[in-house]
Amino acid sequence: MSLRREIAEQIATEGPITVERYMGLALSHPKHGYYRSRDPFGLEGDFITAPEISQMFGELIGLWAVDCWARMGEPERLVLVELGPGRGTLMADALRAARLVPRFLEAARIHLVETSEILRARQSETVGRANTTHGPISWHESFAQTPEGPLILIANEFFDALPIRQYLLDTQGWRERLIGLDDEGSLSFGLSGETVAELRLAAPQGSVLEIGSAGMALSREIAARLAAFGGAALIIDYGHTQQGFGDTLQAVRRHQFVDPLEAPGETDLTAHVDFTSLGNAAMKEGALRHGPVAQRQFLRELGIEARAGSLKQKASEAQAASIDSALVRLIGDAPGAMGTLFKAMALSSPTLTGLAGFGSLTEPEPL
Ligand SMILES: C[S@@+](CC[C@H](N)C(=O)[O-])C[C@H]1O[C@@H](n2cnc3c(N)ncnc32)[C@H](O)[C@@H]1O
Repeated sequence: MSLRREIAEQIATEGPITVERYMGLALSHPKHGYYRSRDPFGLEGDFITAPEISQMFGELIGLWAVDCWARMGEPERLVLVELGPGRGTLMADALRAARLVPRFLEAARIHLVETSEILRARQSETVGRANTTHGPISWHESFAQTPEGPLILIANEFFDALPIRQYLLDTQGWRERLIGLDDEGSLSFGLSGETVAELRLAAPQGSVLEIGSAGMALSREIAARLAAFGGAALIIDYGHTQQGFGDTLQAVRRHQFVDPLEAPGETDLTAHVDFTSLGNAAMKEGALRHGPVAQRQFLRELGIEARAGSLKQKASEAQAASIDSALVRLIGDAPGAMGTLFKAMALSSPTLTGLAGFGSLTEPEPL
């Protein structure tokens, strides 16, 4: 049975479900969940992420991690976590760049948080190939299962896959957006009968409010670990830096936007990351927040243009052209480029200040 049929049958017997439940099933259903059943990356897949565009992305993040570790006082043991490593490309490039500082690699123990067996196998190959100088890689179902200790955590395009709830304001108040069945038995959006008494935010009629409780809970968990053991977490994703209203739930298939209800489990469902809420949740647990800044600023401060220049010195004409186009994609602001759409934010233990990439070297660029 397809996941769409399974969800429709569930709604027929138990009633409409929340957007949060729908996203959770579509992405993480044990059998049909989008990430459980495929490798969605690349030109032939559904989307392409920054580490898949260019090795420069992972390399600079590797050097960022080495710099954080030095600022932490070079702890002898470091828990190096990546959330949702995809094909493992970012971690492999990061470890290769970090070979410049062998003591960092001796200290780091690699912990990958990944629920997809297919992607775990892929990560094992990719990271395994780069992983010549340090101990074994461990996989975990969730961040909570990773060991305690001084921490550096990387999450690129992970938080946008965490389920959100949506609310819509009508004349009587905020109602939760639900997914039910229309007259033909197809999945369709509707609203809860009751208004949500605790929500009293003023906004224009028809406004949509999104709340990402799963993301905020994870941010609190990471922050508590950082406050207790020291370290830093880097979150890069597309999203907004000012809390606002709007429906950002979207589905992508073969690089095109499609209806989020069309084919659950077969399209990539995401929502914009609310950096303000993630940052506030972390600060309540005693962590420091750095940024968010545009990805463009973060990567430029880490020296992406110089890295592109040095790669081009050894490149053929065709390779040099592809390095240039990757650079434009990563730091440009034209439609389709990631430079300003994506943001970088770090969380850290309270004494870790001046992290690279967050305005310590240059004036912040406008978001
Ligand atoms: C959009 S991909 C990003 C991949 C990678 N970070 C990159 O930049 O190429 C999301 C990743 O998170 C994993 N993932 C999604 N939801 C997850 C969850 N709830 N727990 C653990 N991993 C999850 C997916 O399997 C995938 O590896």
